[in-house]
Amino acid sequence: MAWGSFNGDVNSGFAKYDITQDYAWNYEHAPEPVGDVVPVVGGEWLYCGVPVDSPLGIAAGPLLNGKWLLYYASLGFDVLTYKTVRSCERSSYKMPNLQPIAWEGGVVPAELSVASVMNGSWAVSFGMPSKPPSFWRDDVAATRSRLAKGKFLCVSVVATAQDGWSIDDLAADYAQCARWAVESGADGVEANFSCPNVSSVDGQLFLNPTDAGIVAAELREALPNTPLLLKVGNINNRETAHALVEVVAPSADALVMVNGLSAKVRQRNAELLFEGQCRGIAGEIIRETTLEQLALYDGLIREFGIDVRLVGVGGLGQAADVRACLDRGCEAVQFATAAMLNPGLGLAIRREGFSSGR
Ligand SMILES: Cc1cc2nc3c(=O)[nH]c(=O)nc-3n(C[C@H](O)[C@H](O)[C@H](O)COP(=O)(O)O)c2cc1C
Repeated sequence: MAWGSFNGDVNSGFAKYDITQDYAWNYEHAPEPVGDVVPVVGGEWLYCGVPVDSPLGIAAGPLLNGKWLLYYASLGFDVLTYKTVRSCERSSYKMPNLQPIAWEGGVVPAELSVASVMNGSWAVSFGMPSKPPSFWRDDVAATRSRLAKGKFLCVSVVATAQDGWSIDDLAADYAQCARWAVESGADGVEANFSCPNVSSVDGQLFLNPTDAGIVAAELREALPNTPLLLKVGNINNRETAHALVEVVAPSADALVMVNGLSAKVRQRNAELLFEGQCRGIAGEIIRETTLEQLALYDGLIREFGIDVRLVGVGGLGQAADVRACLDRGCEAVQFATAAMLNPGLGLAIRREGFSSGR
């Protein structure tokens, strides 16, 4: 366990998100912003070309709404990704939404076992719930108006596929959400092309470069002047990675990687959790995968002169991880699990520093 700065219990008093409660309860119980002194990060930082105070971000997930976003903004995070929203209301999957898992090192297996205490990794099971568009649009607008300069508010969006939809229908739904986000004042949009919790086409777009290219082009047309990021999952095949990055680079400013890894989870009574479906595995267990994938994409971008930025996410939890991402060509990093376990993570990383060799 390399993260070190939390005591292993997600409900220890460090974490504000209560995993014994459901998504709706946590939505209503956002902490208030804190008044801690935030150490300044030297240097000049950009997020898709927009100046920000640091490259430290929160991934789509922990920021359930504007109140959660403002709380993490007060803790020294400058790139704030609003949890994925849709063009229609959608409820969350039932609990457990966050199930700690056992892991003793090594590659991530296709099946994992539950753990009774949180030791850095968990299965994530929300199914991308969303408030109705009118609700989240007002929340984004109110939140942006309370954010200081140097902070970047990015809204994560996903399409809600209906039976019989073509790829153009799906692209139009993504684009609608993206337009609404920008009309509400979002500084950028992150389109989720990879959700390990859902098996529909919107959750697997990143594995199909042709479809990904169509959706990315439609999003770019909808947002001609706004940063557009695409969130992708784990691709370790060089040919698929190359095909994806070539086809989306003309439309996207950045690729964010990786989303949780897909795996099944077995309970102590030997039955599979989540009705045997895969869920996204997040936390320290996926760190090596993230760093390997970033190195792969960084290599492709440099070898083929591709014009797209990288943002690292997945298993990151300390200053050395920020450095490792910057060394692999990232413009910024995002945290989910580690920042939920220890909301003071950004302050600790700022105090330690993370200058890159690149
Ligand atoms: C509580 C929680 C909720 C998440 N919800 C989303 C989401 O709505 N959209 C998305 O793209 N990723 C979502 N994720 C995935 C994270 O953005 C991130 O890619 C993943 O957790 C790996 O990062 P980590 O190891 O730092 O947690 C969620 C993760 C967590 C822990």
